[in-house]
This record gives sequence, C-alpha cells and structure tokens, in this order.
Amino acid sequence: MQKVKPIRSVGFKERKNNIHSQDSTVIMKNALAFTSIFLVTFSCHIYAGDVSAGKEKSQVCAVCHGADGNSVNPVWPKLAGQHPGYIFKQLKDFHSGARKNVQMTPLAASLSEEDMQDIAAYYSSQKIKIGYASSKLLAVGEKLYRAGNASKGLPACMSCHGPNGAGNVAASFPALSGQHAEYTKIQLLAFRDNKRTNDFNTVMQIVSEKMTTDEIDAVANYIQGLH
Ligand code: HEC
Ligand code: HEC
Repeated sequence: MQKVKPIRSVGFKERKNNIHSQDSTVIMKNALAFTSIFLVTFSCHIYAGDVSAGKEKSQVCAVCHGADGNSVNPVWPKLAGQHPGYIFKQLKDFHSGARKNVQMTPLAASLSEEDMQDIAAYYSSQKIKIGYASSKLLAVGEKLYRAGNASKGLPACMSCHGPNGAGNVAASFPALSGQHAEYTKIQLLAFRDNKRTNDFNTVMQIVSEKMTTDEIDAVANYIQGLH
C-alpha cells in the first residue's frame, strides 16, 4: 500500500495535444462541454454559501459522509475539499432527478438552493484524508490516468482532473484525489452503463465507455492514493 507521488511536469501539454489529435469527436464534445460548464460556473458564483450555516445543516449528512466530509464506508463518497460548485450541482441534480440514488434522492428533495450552497461551502472548506493505493494495479492505473490510451481514443484523466487530481474549479471538473476506490468504480460503471447521465454533454459516459472493468479498477485504485 502506498501514497501515489504525482509526477508533475513531463509533457502534460504535449500529451493532451496528442490525445486530442486521436479522436476529433471527443474534442468536439469537449469543446461543447466547456461552453456549458462556464455558464453553470458563472451562475453558481452568484450565491456564496455560508460555512457555519452549512456545518449546522450538514448534521443529517454526517452519518454517511462524516462530520468533516471524510466518510468511512467506501461506497459513500468523501466530500471534504471538493469544489463547492460541483457539490452544489450534484445536489441540484439529485433534487431534480437528473442523478438518481436511493439514499440521496429523498435527502436532496428537502434541501433549498440556499441549503445546498451552505452545505457545499462547508464541505469544501474541510480537508480530505487521502487514501492509499495498493501497489498491485498501480502501474496500469497511473498510465491510464496520466496518458489515457491513444489506441482507444481514451483521453488522459489528468487533462481535465489535473495532474494531482485536484480538478479544475473554473471548468467545474471535480477533484478526484484520495477518493475511495470503491466509490470511484461505482461511478465509472454507472457512467459506462448509462445509469449516471448527469454529466455535461455525456463527457464521462464517453470516457468510461472506452475502459474495461479491469482498467476501471486500476484507475480507481490509483486515484485513491493520488494527491
Ligand atoms: C444514508 C447515507 C447517506 C446520507 C445520510 C447522505 N448521503 Fe450523500 N451520498 C450517499 C451515497 C451512497 C452517495 C453516492 C450516490 C451514487 O452512487 O450516485 C452520495 C453522494 C453524495 C454526493 C455526490 C458526491 C460526488 O462526489 O459526486 C453529494 C454532494 C452528497 N452525497 C451530499 C450529501 C448531503 C449534503 C447530505 C445531507 C443532506 C447527504 N449527502 C446525506 C449516501 C448518503
Ligand atoms: C474532458 C474532461 C474529462 C476527462 C478527460 C475525464 N473527466 Fe471525469 N469528469 C469530468 C466532468 C465534467 C465530471 C463531472 C460530471 C458531473 O457534472 O456530474 C467528471 C466526473 C468524474 C467522476 C465522478 C466524480 C464524483 O465525485 O462522483 C469520476 C470518478 C471521474 N470523472 C473519473 C475520470 C477518470 C478516471 C478519467 C480518465 C479515465 C476521467 N474522469 C476523464 C470531466 C472529465
């Protein structure tokens, strides 16, 4: 078991360009995705959540997600340190039914937009506890995350989620670093099986379609230790 050391520099830009030149459909879809992402980001910035009100309101969430957003059960996502705009969007999506889950749907139903902003502000102000990656699938996972798979037109995860998994606030790409491998796997399978369809312009459905279940296991393991 080990924490993954990020390799920051080599060829980040070049690799991204290489992958973009492999699959023009993905580039097109990504370009569309970026446009809508900026619109949503803009609208999210109109309200700023209140951290202490959010702490109060998140008490009902703590039983699963942890008081500080670090859940213990690996099927419940860690929310600590996640970008507030992403948390807000997911809560809105559970509320509207765009994203479905037996546990989250009824909980989000009772939240107002202000509650969602406050809770998002609170969790994002907390510090995530990074997990550990097992060494078994590490090399495969690292390669997929950092370089993708050009022969299948799979873009590098880091081109959107960042070299250290910190995501990108401006573009609304969520942070992935340190997340439970089991939760990440559930999400990638849900995107691949079209059970989770709330991603902008199906960007994650397109990505996950290009991965085998073994590759999903490997990349989820890598992400658990990434920071
Ligand atoms: C009974 C356990 C449980 C409780 C209580 C709970 N959640 Fe969740 N939450 C989950 C599960 C399970 C998921 C993953 C759903 C899926 O697989 O799509 C989740 C997902 C989420 C996500 C999406 C995270 C991501 O990375 O995409 C957010 C945000 C969230 N919950 C916020 C909340 C908030 C806010 C509350 C309190 C109002 C809450 N949850 C209460 C179980 C719970
Ligand atoms: C073109 C940009 C892009 C690329 C490349 C990309 N992602 Fe994503 N990813 C996104 C966006 C945008 C979302 C948020 C979707 C939403 O709003 O629900 C996301 C969401 C996710 C989530 C859900 C996070 C959560 O907390 O529920 C996971 C897991 C994920 N991506 C993993 C990956 C992996 C692994 C790869 C590489 C194999 C990858 N992504 C490549 C843009 C991208």
